[in-house]
Amino acid sequence: MPKVLISDALSETAVQIFRARGIDVEYAPELGKDRDRLIAAIGEFDGLAVRSATKASAPVIKAGKNLKVIGRAGIGVDNIDLPAATAAGVVVMNTPYGNAITTAEHAIALMFALARQIPQANESTHAGRWEKNRFMGVELYGKTLGIIGCGNIGSIVADRAIGMKMHVIAYDPFLTDGRAVELGVEKVELDELLKRADIISLHAPLTEQTRNILSAENIARTKKGVFIVNCARGGLIDEDALKDALDSGHVAGAGLDVFAVEPANEHPLFGHERVVATPHLGASTREAQENVAIQIAEQMADFLLRGAVTNA
Ligand code: MLT
Repeated sequence: MPKVLISDALSETAVQIFRARGIDVEYAPELGKDRDRLIAAIGEFDGLAVRSATKASAPVIKAGKNLKVIGRAGIGVDNIDLPAATAAGVVVMNTPYGNAITTAEHAIALMFALARQIPQANESTHAGRWEKNRFMGVELYGKTLGIIGCGNIGSIVADRAIGMKMHVIAYDPFLTDGRAVELGVEKVELDELLKRADIISLHAPLTEQTRNILSAENIARTKKGVFIVNCARGGLIDEDALKDALDSGHVAGAGLDVFAVEPANEHPLFGHERVVATPHLGASTREAQENVAIQIAEQMADFLLRGAVTNA
């Protein structure tokens, strides 16, 4: 009977699915935060199921003498050492769709939070200051939303934004003309997006091509007063350059769910009056966590029991 270790907090449904499929499963979310214990434990398992806290680094993979598959209940696999997994013949799979709606909704929530300064107004109102004149907002209606990365999540953001009567432009080298028409977005080059967008929302994976896609140079090309939303990966933005642009007022506000280094317990942008920050909550809804747990358990079981590879 194959054995799977779940080393992050995954929905209980994943455990039930593994058991129902005849897989021996150990649920030990504390191991994801303890590298040495994970290395000591991993040797007896055929599969490792993780979210983002577990770092499936080269030493972890090397210690996994029986390891055949690592399943990421979520989209990004940046917490898994892919070259080490490939070298060890370990299949890495993810769940590209299960949390897409939830993450898109978080991006939209951050757009509204910025446009109407909701976190700041909430704090002020709770503090007993009735600062009605301080919080003049802007409408999203009629504004141009620039989406960088128009895949699973970006396309849902586009759909919701079109529903709010925004004009959506998208930069994505993989977006075909036909798909752009189908989505109702205007496909543009990055330079044009930077120049035209009132709000920029990032939905690209972090790769060598996309790292610091919002560099100092590119931020300088944006419209004065732009809002920037990032629910993708921290490394997509040069955070020092963003701070300078927020300080100067060139960027009117940033809604950040992700940071270059996580967990981010301290950050130069924390406490900034134009920044709305959340602790990588993009995928944190009951529905999304249930979806990704079910999907990863089924996929890993399919692989371990009959060699079927999905989303690898
Ligand atoms: C993902 O890659 O699926 C998201 O960033 C969510 C997460 O890491 O929890």
